[in-house]
Amino acid sequence: MKNYITHDEWSIVEDGFHAANNEITESLMSLGNGRMGQRGNFEEQYTGKTLLGNYVAGVYFPDKTRVGWWKNGYPNYFAKVLNACNWTGIDIKIGEETLDLNTCQVEDFRRVLNMQEGTLERTTTVQLASGKRLKIYSKRFCNMVDDESGAIQYSVTPLDFTDTFTITPYLDGNISNRDSNYDETFWNEIHKETSFSEGYLVLETKGNPYGVEQFQVATGMAFDLKINSLKTDYQSLPARREKYVAGVVHIEVKEGDELTIFKYAVNLSSTNYEKDQLIPEAKTYIKRISEKGFTQLYAEHVKAWADKWEKNDITIEGDIAAQQGIRFNIFHLNQTYTGEDERLNIGPKGFTGEKYGGSTYWDTEAYCIPFYLSTADEKVARNLLVYRHRHLEKAIENAEKLGFSGGAALYPMVTMNGEECHNEWEITFEEIHRNGAIAFAIYDYVRYTGDETYLSEYGLEVLIGISRFWKQRITWSAEKNQFVMLGVTGPNEYENNVNNNWYTNYIACWTLRYTLEVISKLWGSERLNEIIFQTHFNLNGEMADWKNIVDNIHFPYDPERQVYLQQQGFLDKEILTVNDIADHRPINQKWSWDRILRSCFIKQADVLQGLYLFEDEFSVEEIKRNFEFYEPMTVHESSLSPCVHSILAAKIGLKEKAYEMYVRTSRLDLDDYNNDTEDGLHITSMAGTWMSVVKGFAGQRVKDGVLTLNPYIPEQWNSYSFRIGFRGALLRVQVTQEGVAVENISDHDVTILIKGEPLLVAANSTERK
Ligand code: BGC
Repeated sequence: MKNYITHDEWSIVEDGFHAANNEITESLMSLGNGRMGQRGNFEEQYTGKTLLGNYVAGVYFPDKTRVGWWKNGYPNYFAKVLNACNWTGIDIKIGEETLDLNTCQVEDFRRVLNMQEGTLERTTTVQLASGKRLKIYSKRFCNMVDDESGAIQYSVTPLDFTDTFTITPYLDGNISNRDSNYDETFWNEIHKETSFSEGYLVLETKGNPYGVEQFQVATGMAFDLKINSLKTDYQSLPARREKYVAGVVHIEVKEGDELTIFKYAVNLSSTNYEKDQLIPEAKTYIKRISEKGFTQLYAEHVKAWADKWEKNDITIEGDIAAQQGIRFNIFHLNQTYTGEDERLNIGPKGFTGEKYGGSTYWDTEAYCIPFYLSTADEKVARNLLVYRHRHLEKAIENAEKLGFSGGAALYPMVTMNGEECHNEWEITFEEIHRNGAIAFAIYDYVRYTGDETYLSEYGLEVLIGISRFWKQRITWSAEKNQFVMLGVTGPNEYENNVNNNWYTNYIACWTLRYTLEVISKLWGSERLNEIIFQTHFNLNGEMADWKNIVDNIHFPYDPERQVYLQQQGFLDKEILTVNDIADHRPINQKWSWDRILRSCFIKQADVLQGLYLFEDEFSVEEIKRNFEFYEPMTVHESSLSPCVHSILAAKIGLKEKAYEMYVRTSRLDLDDYNNDTEDGLHITSMAGTWMSVVKGFAGQRVKDGVLTLNPYIPEQWNSYSFRIGFRGALLRVQVTQEGVAVENISDHDVTILIKGEPLLVAANSTERK
C-alpha cells in the first residue's frame, strides 16, 4: 500500500514530487471525457519513469495471437486498446537547456486532479543544472462539452534570469504500446501539415488479415502565446518529421515575466467521420474551439461537470478519506463512459492504461449496469444491453468455433466488436460464467426499470442463445446421476479447469429458469412466434431439456460446514486464512502460478458472487455461513472483489467488515492496495464502489417493482447522501446517525419501502424516518 496522496474532499493531490511513484500518479490523475482520454503525463519532456498514454474511444488494433502452443479455438487476434498520438506535448528549452524534471532540482511541486472541475493542474519551481530557477504552472482538461477536444494552459516564469526560450508545442504519433510484442508500432502516417500556429496529423492503424477496419485518427492543434496575459508578437517555424508536427517559437522572456502557451487539440476518429473528411472537420473544429478560447471552453467544461456531480455525487461527512475515495470512483466512471454512444463500452482501464486490451468484459453487466440504472437515463443501461444483442451473431460464431451448434451463444470474455480476443485457454474456453452475467443483466434491467418490452424486443433472443449454450456445455454424470459442468474457471481465476464450480452451475441453472420464465411471460404473443421461427426454436424439446437440467444439476455442498463448495474437491486443499500468509501478498506477484492454483486462496468473490447476485434465494444465515468460510481465504487481488464483500457484509450485519471492504474498494487505486495502479486504474470496479454505498450501507434493492432501502451508517461517518433515479422519480437520500431523509426532486410521487415499511414521498417533498 502507498500513502502519499493528500486526503482532500474534491481533489487528488500530490504534494512534493514523488518521482518513484510517477506512473501511479499518472494513472490516478488521468483525464477523459468518454471520447478520448489520457494519463496525467507532464507536457514538457520527462526522461524519468513515465508511461505516456493517450487513447481514443473505440480505436484498437487486432494484434495477432502469439502463443507458444496453439490450441484450436483460440481467437486469431487480441484487440489492443491503442496508445495514440500525444497531443499534450510542449517542449521547453531555456537557452540550450531542456526543461526536464528528471534532470533538474525540483524545489516545490504540487500536482492536483480537481475532480469538481475535471482538470489537471501542476505548480512547480525547479532549478536547472545551470542554476537558473523557473516556475511552471499548467492546467488542462479533456473537454466534456466539445468532447473530441482538449485544452492546455502552460506557463513558465524565469525567477532569476532573462533568456531566450524555445517553445515547441507538438503532435507526436511515434507511439508504441507498452504491451506490444517485439516493440512493434501500430500506426502509419497518412497525412501531416503545419501552418503558423496549427498542425495536423492523420494516422491510420496498420493493416490486418482479420477484416477489422483500419481506423484513422486526425489529431489537430492550434496554439497561442501571451506574456503576462497580454498578446505578444512571435514567430513560429513549422517542424515536421515522420508522424510528428510542431511549431517552434524562439522568444525572449524577461526575469519575472510569465510566458503562457495556450494549446487546443482535437482527436477525430474515422469511427465518427468519413476518412476524407477528417482533415477539413479537424480544421473547423480547431477554429471553433480556439476562437472560443481557453477561458470560455473552461467555463463550459466546468459547467458540464457541475451537471454531472449534481446527478451522481455521493457525499460523506466526517471521513475525508472515504469522501475522497467515492468521488474519485464516480469521477473516473464519468470520464470513461458517458452513455452517449451505444457502440462504446466500459473498458476495465478506461483511458488510464493499456493493460487488458478490449473494452468489454463481464464487468459491464455484473458491476456497471446497476450504477447506470440508478444514476443515468434508462436508455444508457438499455444501450449497454443492446450492445450485446448486436453481438449475438458473433457470440454464436464464437460458440461454433468451440464446437457448439444450433444457435448456442458464447459471449467473449473480452471484446471490442463481438469477437473473442482473449487468448489464455483457461479464460477464453473455460471462464464461461460471463455468459450468465449477460443474462442476469437483462433480468436486472427489467427488475429495475419495469421495461418488459426489452424482453420481447431483444432480451429473449439473447437468453435463448445463452441457454442453448448451457444446455450443450452441461453434461450428464452417470456416476452422480446428475448434470455436471466440467472444466471451467469460475470468477476466482486462481483456480482453473475445475469441475462443478458452484457459481457457474448456479448461474447457468438460473439462466435456464429465467429463460423459461420469460417464454411463459410472452406465451401466445406474436413476437414469441416470430422469435421461435427466427431462432428455429424447438419449443417443447428445448424447454423440456432445460427444465430437466434445472431439476437435476449438481451443486457441490459440504453438509458438515453447511457451505456451498466453490468447486468439487475444494476441501482437499489445506484450508488457511490470509493471516497465515501476510508477507506473501499480493500472491499473484510473489508466488508461482502453480502454487497459487494449489492453494485455497481466492482472488475474488466466487461462491459469494452467486450469493450476492441471487441473495433472495438464500437465507441470511446461509449467506453469513458462506461469507465467514470464504472471506478469510480471499486475497481480493481482483479489483472486483472488495465491493461485493462490502455489500454482503452490510447485508449480514458485519459492519466493521463492510466498512473495511468499502475503504478498500474506494481507495484501491488511490492507496495502490494491489501494487498495480501504475498500469492504469480499475475503472469497472469503481461502479462496485458506488454499489457498496448505495446497495451496501443503504441497502437499496428493487423488489416486486418497489424501491426498497434498508439503510445504516458506518459509525465512522456523520452522514452520507446519494441520488438515485427510479422509474421517473429522482430521489436524494440522506442517512445520518439519527435517521433517513428522502427528498423527491421530481414531479413523480413515489412510494418506497424503508426498512420494510412503506413511505410515500410526494413529488418535490421530503420525508424522514
Ligand atoms: C478479473 C476478472 C475481470 C478482469 C477485468 C480480472 O483480474 O479476475 O473478473 O473481468 O480482471 O476487470
